[in-house]
Amino acid sequence: MKAAVVTTFSEPPRFADFAEPVAGPGEEVVEVVASGLHPRVRSQASGSHYTSTDELPLVPGVDGVGRLADGSLVYFVLPDTAFGAMAERTVIDPRRSVPVPAGADPVLVASAMNPAMSSWIALRGRIAFEPGQSVLILGATGSAGRLAIQVARHLGAASIVAAGRGASRLAELSALGATATVDLAAAPDDVAAALSATAAEVDVVLDYLWGEPAQNAIMPLITGRADRSRLLQWIQIGAVAGPEIILPSAVLRQANVQFLGSGQGSASARGILEQLPSLVAELVRGTFTVDALATPLADVARAWTEPLARSTQRVVLVP
Ligand SMILES: NC(=O)c1ccc[n+]([C@@H]2O[C@H](COP(=O)([O-])OP(=O)(O)OC[C@H]3O[C@@H](n4cnc5c(N)ncnc54)[C@H](OP(=O)(O)O)[C@@H]3O)[C@@H](O)[C@H]2O)c1
Repeated sequence: MKAAVVTTFSEPPRFADFAEPVAGPGEEVVEVVASGLHPRVRSQASGSHYTSTDELPLVPGVDGVGRLADGSLVYFVLPDTAFGAMAERTVIDPRRSVPVPAGADPVLVASAMNPAMSSWIALRGRIAFEPGQSVLILGATGSAGRLAIQVARHLGAASIVAAGRGASRLAELSALGATATVDLAAAPDDVAAALSATAAEVDVVLDYLWGEPAQNAIMPLITGRADRSRLLQWIQIGAVAGPEIILPSAVLRQANVQFLGSGQGSASARGILEQLPSLVAELVRGTFTVDALATPLADVARAWTEPLARSTQRVVLVP
């Protein structure tokens, strides 16, 4: 069969022949209908993800929509495997899949589940977010950040501060539910002042950035709080701006701030799976705006490297 095949971590996958998948006990072979090219898939294909085992060749793709032998569709999440979803067929564990209703757009589901589940699980699984609470999203212009705005609004957030870089991209975010925006590309003192003015009273930070922008945001946020003993939950979800920060000990003493993460490991596989059916239902209902770009699997090498017409697009490979 045909698949996207990585033979060296320094080059994009190529459309090539690959061995047919074989189902083990309790597994099932599905016809892949659509699989998203998420940042997590890029790090898998470059060998840089924290779960990478350096095994080559590998077929990338961590999730997708597949057709079962009975013709029905499922959204599936794969375990850490060298036999990923960007192929004509792959092997799934049915316990790590949820039904996709007939008539749903598989490309939309494949594009949105990974970025949407980052905030869906963070707010519903990692903490007990309540309507009326307020949120700051660091890295709000990407696919996951834009969905986080919509997820927070859907869950009843009273205010949603969207921080990212690029005035024109930030200007689009109020239509999704952002009540204020902060341009992280501004001068550092201006960023600090804007965060202090708009986000010092938030209950939750959804952090897709980490690195310097997160590090620089901590002090203005906690020193601007009227009551520093009021809980601030800082949920680390992505690290597009850098893998590390310097965290002064005084931060933890002078404010009631809790740092926690949300992702594979900090959320259990079972905990993640429990949250997926409700998310599929909302996506299929059209609750969230997504920007999916269907691309033939045969064009995988081009899709990997070609700049997108819009930075908000999420490429979905379709065998
Ligand atoms: N833990 C989980 O459950 C989970 C699930 C899904 C995704 N994630 C992670 O979340 C992160 C975001 O995913 P995504 O799907 O939204 O990716 P994406 O669509 O590629 O978006 C990344 C965004 O980050 C922005 N960005 C990059 N560097 C920045 C910086 N220094 N300051 C401000 N903005 C910056 C980019 O804007 P520019 O165009 O300005 O660079 C872009 O808008 C990734 O690390 C991904 O692996 C985690």
